[in-house]
Amino acid sequence: MSEVSLFESSLLSPEVQAALPAGYTLRALRSSDYERGFLKVLEVLTEVGNHTKEQYLEQFNYLLNHNDQYYTITITDDSKNVVVAAGTILVERKFVHKNGLVGHIEDIAVDKNQQGKKLGLRIIQALKFIGAQRGCYKVILDCSEKNIPFYEKCGFKHKEYEMAWYV
Ligand code: ACO
Repeated sequence: MSEVSLFESSLLSPEVQAALPAGYTLRALRSSDYERGFLKVLEVLTEVGNHTKEQYLEQFNYLLNHNDQYYTITITDDSKNVVVAAGTILVERKFVHKNGLVGHIEDIAVDKNQQGKKLGLRIIQALKFIGAQRGCYKVILDCSEKNIPFYEKCGFKHKEYEMAWYV
């Protein structure tokens, strides 16, 4: 199968691309990012599971079929052809705010060896750009207390409290 991108590149911020270190590229998630270690990067978040390529593509194809809702982006180090950072914005349709759209930022991950180079900041800026382009009236996220200073640096303000129920 030839390489497929999750969504069109017009939703990728040119300002964010210009601000990346030389040799790093902002992209929509690709069908071939399994080989570039996309799932390995997510391991800084939690347990990911040992996906086969087929299991990766099963989820990728679901996102592709819902690519007006799911926008997963990557930053790659092109000299090594590996994913070094990733994040997702999920666009939710609401009745309130006259059929308004809300962006939910999820699964922000920067490879351990690449943290502290502003790649996390660039991922968030790129996701905010997508949220704005899609017409979201707000973009929200849940995070741990220790990540609050990072998100404040990305322009977010503390608003509500997260509640969770585990099955
Ligand atoms: N505490 C205080 N400041 C921080 C922290 C922190 N934990 N992390 C980053 N910052 C600051 C940086 O110092 C920098 O400040 P500066 O502009 O004054 O120099 C600014 O925030 C931007 O930092 P980046 O270099 O972009 O941060 P990085 O690339 O390391 O990405 C991230 C930050 C995403 C939290 C990364 O460390 C990571 O992947 N951590 C593990 C996974 C994780 O916790 N992900 C977030 C889960 S929440 C969610 O997904 C919605």
